[in-house]
Amino acid sequence: MSIMRIAIDGPASSGKSTVAKILADELNMIYVDTGAMYRALTYMALKNGVDITNQTELVDLIHSIKISFERTKGGQHVKVNGDYITEQIRRSDVTAAVSTVAAHPYVRNELVKQQRLMAADQSVVMDGRDIGTVVFPDAEVKIYLNASVEERAMRRHKENVEKGMESSLEELTKEIKERDHKDMTRKVSPLKQAEDAILVDTTSLSIKEVVGKIKDIIIKHEKYSN
Ligand code: DC
Repeated sequence: MSIMRIAIDGPASSGKSTVAKILADELNMIYVDTGAMYRALTYMALKNGVDITNQTELVDLIHSIKISFERTKGGQHVKVNGDYITEQIRRSDVTAAVSTVAAHPYVRNELVKQQRLMAADQSVVMDGRDIGTVVFPDAEVKIYLNASVEERAMRRHKENVEKGMESSLEELTKEIKERDHKDMTRKVSPLKQAEDAILVDTTSLSIKEVVGKIKDIIIKHEKYSN
């Protein structure tokens, strides 16, 4: 198989990272969760008192840290300068601030550079908001995952309840709508389906069904068997 880039974009809680992780494992490719990179930067900014509205300070911060991933059985850890921050980057203060951080064009430029380097010489499954439109406009396979707001909020709610966390479906619905709006209307690299991306609506599909659909699309690609 020659190098393949599988781009998976879509809104918050559309199932991207769950599906991308399984695909990467099954197809023996690396997995890059670009949302985790924006979150890692946001976490470090909050921790170090960096003003998240100040693009220059954020770019300086990017240059002073190293974001990396460590594969585990069935998942992956996110690290900054070698420290594990996998759980911290999912905190609500990080989630609330990340859209502001991700809206700065120079911040995006820097992280996009790192994302391209990660896939320079190996096949990758990369998920995010702009993978098929900006990071790899020439990706071999582009998928746009979507699901209704109600379904996405319900998935988050169930995850929280399973983890024993306090959770309000109403709050989650509001938060997802707000994040969709911010991600889709920002000036730089807004979330949108690339013209040549294949839409997979995951509403009422199981994870296994979604993985199966995407695998069929990948396996049909001429580069997969070459
Ligand atoms: O997928 P996620 O919820 O972990 O992403 C966190 C935020 O990062 C999301 O609100 C938008 C931003 N993001 C982005 O702008 N571009 C990406 N490629 C990935 C995430």
